[in-house]
Amino acid sequence: MGSAVGKYLMELFAKPGDVQTSSIAIFILGLVGVTVCCLLFNLRSVFHKPPSQIKKKRRRSLGSYVNHVSTVSTTQHMRNRVHRKPYSESHPSSQQVTVTCREVPRYQLSILCVSCGRVPSKKACRYSRCGECCRANKASVCTAHGTGGSAALGIVEGALDDKPQELDLSYMNLKQCPSRIGYVGTQLVCLNLINNRLTELPEEIGLLRGLEELFLQYNCLKELPDAVGQFHKLHELDCKNNHLRKLPRSLGNLSSLSIFNATNNLLQSLPSEIGNLARLEELCLHSNQLTELPDSICNLLNLTALYLGENRLTKMPADLGKLIMLTELDLSSCELMELPDSLSRCTSLIKVWLSNNKLQTLPDQLGRLHQLKELHVRNNCIRYFPASLSYLQLYTFSANQNPLLYEWDGPARAKLTISPDTDVPPLVELAARQVARCNVAWMDGDLPSELAALLRSRKQCSSCEGPFFRFYQSEVVFANIGIFHRVPLYQQICSPFNNMHCQPVDLT
Ligand SMILES: *[C@@H]1O[C@H](CO)[C@@H](O)[C@H](O)[C@H]1NC(C)=O
Ligand SMILES: *[C@@H]1O[C@H](CO)[C@@H](O)[C@H](O)[C@H]1NC(C)=O
Ligand SMILES: *[C@@H]1O[C@H](CO)[C@@H](O)[C@H](O)[C@H]1NC(C)=O
Ligand SMILES: [Zn+2]
Repeated sequence: MGSAVGKYLMELFAKPGDVQTSSIAIFILGLVGVTVCCLLFNLRSVFHKPPSQIKKKRRRSLGSYVNHVSTVSTTQHMRNRVHRKPYSESHPSSQQVTVTCREVPRYQLSILCVSCGRVPSKKACRYSRCGECCRANKASVCTAHGTGGSAALGIVEGALDDKPQELDLSYMNLKQCPSRIGYVGTQLVCLNLINNRLTELPEEIGLLRGLEELFLQYNCLKELPDAVGQFHKLHELDCKNNHLRKLPRSLGNLSSLSIFNATNNLLQSLPSEIGNLARLEELCLHSNQLTELPDSICNLLNLTALYLGENRLTKMPADLGKLIMLTELDLSSCELMELPDSLSRCTSLIKVWLSNNKLQTLPDQLGRLHQLKELHVRNNCIRYFPASLSYLQLYTFSANQNPLLYEWDGPARAKLTISPDTDVPPLVELAARQVARCNVAWMDGDLPSELAALLRSRKQCSSCEGPFFRFYQSEVVFANIGIFHRVPLYQQICSPFNNMHCQPVDLT
């Protein structure tokens, strides 16, 4: 290409005899040739470089420090790149990158905790974890993080200065909680004492007025100090798996408490003040030794979950039906003989566990719990279910291990099938119903003896819920509940012939 241009220029300028012109032409030709050569060489060198080097060339023009990079050996060059990478990633906009000699090695040595990946691990930790994660791993707590009283005291003393919002003294094999903990300050929101061997808590703990979460599970606590009543901001209190025999009355002062877990303790009774916990939503008292509940528990109107399984309860408070927010109720493995009829007013219930009790019947109007999806009544003394059960759309219904009536057991069914021989109840029955319906207060001697005797055998109509005594119609029918068993359903109707509102459940 260069020679073609040269020829063209020669033809243009070369005129015989004109020495000056030809020498000028040769000069220009040389100039153009050199320029073209330079250009060509430059282009070649750019095209033949790998793309990464082009990029680096661009970056080189940005930072002054890199100017000497091209002269250092490859290994050194690679190391520089490794060091630079995180910086250029974390500061994509900063153009002047300066890396001092001290920063680079420090960055390399601070290894993040292998568990949480957020906090630097402690150098001496055998498991390369931070203190919190190491202690949280029950299976392998590292000695580097320290256990026992002195280590805990060290953490508490540190917290006295740092004023943290959370304090973690879990998995430290503590037999005693340092009483200095009370002075960590009211900024403390969460205190974690899980999995130690504490038998008591210091009264000073009550000074931590800012606490919102207090975790005491898996210890050997025999009681909680009265001072816990001072945590007016406490939202969650977990003391499951301890040795608690009773709870302090001051517990009722926890006006913000919404979750209380005392599963797996030795509680024999509850203070009636528990009914003051107006905000309580979840109450877990599974696996204790409760024999009865205070009636005040029916005041916990915000309660959505109540777990009382594996206790020794023989009856439930009559006003249980006030808990209309309740969605889950666990009363399994107790010694319940009956349930209050009012249970059928807890219409938010979705799951109910009643297995392993001594129940003979279920509340007649259970079918009103129209949200109910799970009903467990395994291993009880039930012979038949209320007919209203057929209104429910149950997903789970476990009813085995009950002495249920057999469909072919004619004599037993005949006994339960009653039909009145007149259309209209006798006068004494009507009088008794009226007295009962109007809740007339009466004493012995006020009423004719026959009426008084009748009033002592009050029953409830399966259809209208009205009172009746000796005049009624009853029957056992077999029907499928949901997609499950064919079970005996029983109903008693007070006015089969003359009350439009009092019709048997249609089971056909
Ligand atoms: C906490 O409860 C106890 C016992 O129920 C009561 O005597 C006391 O006055 C309450 N304290 C506060 C601060 O409300
Ligand atoms: C209470 O503890 C039991 C047992 O560990 C657990 O199954 C339950 O979920 C806990 N309840 C709450 C509300 O934390
Ligand atoms: C239920 O809790 C709310 C706040 O979560 C509270 O305002 C209300 O008073 C509580 N209900 C009762 C009956 O105490
Ligand atoms: Zn009726």
